[in-house]
Amino acid sequence: MAQIKCKIKTMSPILGAAFLSLVLIGCRGQRSKEPPIIPIQNMVEQTSYGPQSQNENYKDGRAYRPQILETVEFGKDKTNIRLYQGKEPESTEQNPIWVKKIPIEINDKVMKQGQISYNVFCTPCHDYAGDSNGLVTQRAGGSIRPSNLHDKERLALPVGKIYDAIHNGVNNWNMPGFASQLSVEDKWAVVAYVRALQLTRRASLEDIPSDIKAKNGWSNKK
Ligand code: HEC
Repeated sequence: MAQIKCKIKTMSPILGAAFLSLVLIGCRGQRSKEPPIIPIQNMVEQTSYGPQSQNENYKDGRAYRPQILETVEFGKDKTNIRLYQGKEPESTEQNPIWVKKIPIEINDKVMKQGQISYNVFCTPCHDYAGDSNGLVTQRAGGSIRPSNLHDKERLALPVGKIYDAIHNGVNNWNMPGFASQLSVEDKWAVVAYVRALQLTRRASLEDIPSDIKAKNGWSNKK
């Protein structure tokens, strides 16, 4: 008898939990207009302003602040469409004229940054050398093959178009865009690095600055 009593005692929390869960499951799917029960409030309930609402903190009492005329975000002159879109100002939506010169200063630091970003974001498809045999390319059989960055068409792309490919993606996201992952400077740095990759296979002695040639004893003569 004592044994049975003991069993009921140990079982009762389990039975209780089972009963409670049955009751709670029973409530599922019932709609209620009551506000939800939020046991830990944290910052769930906060003042927020809707359109046309008032905020006494401002002189004019408007909660929504009007844009201050003739100002741009600090350091971000987005009217510079050469820099932000890789297009000449006289471009139209249908007829973009791509810039032919990278609109930022290119130095060793920028090239290094371009290499880092290219290696992170582009190699999965275009591989380290630009032949586009990255791991994704190798394994995503049947999907659209990434362009070889050394082929004739890609060599002929103006730098602005390469920037646009990185920023907006290519052909409705056959290649995804990297607008949010890379800053404007980073994107131009990647463009410079792509150009450098292209040059690795077709540079001639003429492309080497004369002081470096002299230092190394290289000459244009065969
Ligand atoms: C997920 C795979 C993938 C990644 C990652 C990727 N690409 Fe591509 N890329 C493609 C594909 C696919 C195409 C060809 C799209 C087409 O032809 O429709 C392409 C095309 C291009 C082109 C040619 C555009 C043109 O107009 O001909 C350039 C340049 C390019 N990619 C550069 C890059 C750079 C630089 C990065 C890194 C920031 C990058 N891609 C990252 C898949 C990728």
